[in-house]
Parts: sequence; C-alpha cells; structure tokens
Amino acid sequence: MADLVIRAMRESDVPVLMEIERSSFTTPWSELSFLSEIYRKNGIAIVAEFEQNVIGYACATYLLHEAHILNLAVHHEFRRRGVGTMLMNHLLRELKKRGCVFVYLEVRASNSGAQAFYQQFGFTAVGRRKKYYAHPEEDALLMMGRI
Ligand SMILES: CC(C)(COP(=O)(O)OP(=O)(O)OC[C@H]1O[C@@H](n2cnc3c(N)ncnc32)[C@H](O)[C@@H]1OP(=O)(O)O)[C@@H](O)C(=O)NCCC(=O)NCCS
Repeated sequence: MADLVIRAMRESDVPVLMEIERSSFTTPWSELSFLSEIYRKNGIAIVAEFEQNVIGYACATYLLHEAHILNLAVHHEFRRRGVGTMLMNHLLRELKKRGCVFVYLEVRASNSGAQAFYQQFGFTAVGRRKKYYAHPEEDALLMMGRI
C-alpha cells in the first residue's frame, strides 16, 4: 500500500463513505453525520485514498487534553493491510499536535478484531457502557489510550 494517501475528508467523499459505513456497521452513520464531521470546528475527519479510491476513514473530536474517536472503518477488501494503522497514526499525531493526551473510544463488546487493533496503539478497556449499541443490543467497551 505504498501509494496510500491520507487526506482531509471532503463532501464529495460522502457517497463512498456511506457504502463502506453500511457494509461495516449495523447502525450506520447518516450522510449528515459525515457532513457534520467535515465541518466540525474541533474535529479531525480524514480518509485513506488508494489509486484515487477512498478505502477508509476516521473521525475524532477533541477538547483541551481529551479526544474521542467517533468513527473508523476500512473497506472490507482492504483490511489487514495496514490502512487502519495509517489512519490511526495520522489521527493520533494530529490530536497530539492539538494538545491531546487522552484518547477515548467505544467499541462493541463482541468486536474483538477492532479491540485487538486498538490494543496495538496501547489502548486498554477502562469501562463499559451498558446497552450502548442497538441491532443487536450490546454493551460498549470504553477504551482509552495516551498519546
Ligand atoms: C478495525 C479496522 C478499522 C482495522 O483496520 P485494518 O486496516 O484492517 O487494520 P490494520 O491492517 O492496520 O491492522 C493492524 C493490526 O491490528 C490488529 N488487527 C486488525 N484487525 C484485526 C482483526 N480483525 N482481528 C485481530 N487483530 C486485528 C492486528 O494486529 C493487525 O496487524 P496484522 O494484520 O499484522 O496482524 C477494520 O477491521 C474495520 O474497518 N472494521 C470494521 C469497522 C470497525 O469495527 N471499526 C471500529 C469501530 S470501534
């Protein structure tokens, strides 16, 4: 994936983001959710582009020394090739530049793949949010990393 580019998310990316989102999550974000992240003042919204195709994305928000990863997904055909890692590295670097120290995120309790992914970045489970998700109803693990 030498030709992978990480860049800011744009309005014109939204249709592709919706495709990846719908195939990755049972309660996908809406187009409006992505548009809000593109224009959020205290946020970072990025995409991974390979051969001019968007194949992954990540969104985070921050306030003072705390950040929250709101969304992160990679097109299923491109998983386990380091795309998620490139998105995370970029996100964490940008959050650090903005003064963040603690980064939080929620992940489905059954999503062991994503949990293993976040553990690669030093994230650990620090709490549990009961019935946080629907379809199917499930708890979220709250994970935290330091940057
Ligand atoms: C989680 C996700 C973003 C990871 O993206 P990715 O591009 O596949 O991640 P990488 O290739 O950079 O993986 C880096 C390392 O994380 C770990 N990892 C990633 N996916 C994993 C999985 N499914 N199971 C176990 N470990 C995993 C591995 O250690 C991997 O290194 P390796 O491939 O050399 O073993 C991707 O699986 C995805 O989009 N999942 C669906 C959406 C989702 O669950 N998002 C998170 C919501 S909280």
